Amino acid sequence: MEDQAFSPESLARVAAAVARVGGRDIEPIGEVLRDIARTVEEVRIARTPPPDEPYWRAPLYRTHALEIVQMCFGPAREWLPHDHGTSSGWVHVIDGQAEHVLFTFAEDGALREQRREMLSTGALIFMPERMIHTLGPAGDRLSTLFAYAPPIAGMGVYDPAAGCGCIVSDDCGAWWPQTPAQLVREFRFPRTTSLSSGD
Ligand SMILES: [Fe+2]
Repeated sequence: MEDQAFSPESLARVAAAVARVGGRDIEPIGEVLRDIARTVEEVRIARTPPPDEPYWRAPLYRTHALEIVQMCFGPAREWLPHDHGTSSGWVHVIDGQAEHVLFTFAEDGALREQRREMLSTGALIFMPERMIHTLGPAGDRLSTLFAYAPPIAGMGVYDPAAGCGCIVSDDCGAWWPQTPAQLVREFRFPRTTSLSSGD
C-alpha cells in the first residue's frame, strides 16, 4: 500500500538529508531519520491504517541502495515475525510506544522469542541483516520511520505456532500472503508450542 502523502518540498528535504551522508552506507542513516522527523512536516501527521491492514505505509525515498518509509500503526495486531531478507536498517519512533520482539531459531529448530523491549518516542535502533522480529504499537497508536539498505526484497514471514514460513512478494506485508501470487516459496520448521524463551 503506497500513498503519495509528501509534498515535493518535503521529498527534496529528505533527499538532501540522505545526500549529506552519501545515501549508501546504512550506519549514518539513523541520524538522517531524526533529521527527517524534525524537518518534514508530514511525518508528524497521524495516519489511520486501511480497514483491512494493520498499518498505513508511505514511501519517502527510494533508490537501488536505500529505502525510507513512514508507517503508522493502528490497534490491530495481525502481523507475524518476519525478516528483511538481506537488508539491514534502522527504525525511529516518531510518536507513541512500540513493542519490539526479537526471535531466534532454537536448538530444536523451533522459532522462539529471544528478547522483548519497549521503544518510546525518540527511540532509534539498528536492525541487522537476517534479524527476525515483530514491531507494533504498545498502545493505541504508533508512528515510525524505517530505513532499509538495500530496499527489502525476499522478505521471510514466519508462523511459529503453525511451523511454517514463506518468502513473500514485495507487495506483501508482514503477514501470511492473502493471494497465491504473493507467496514465492513456502518452507516448514518445528512448531513452537510456547513462544517463551524461559525454558
Ligand atoms: Fe520488520
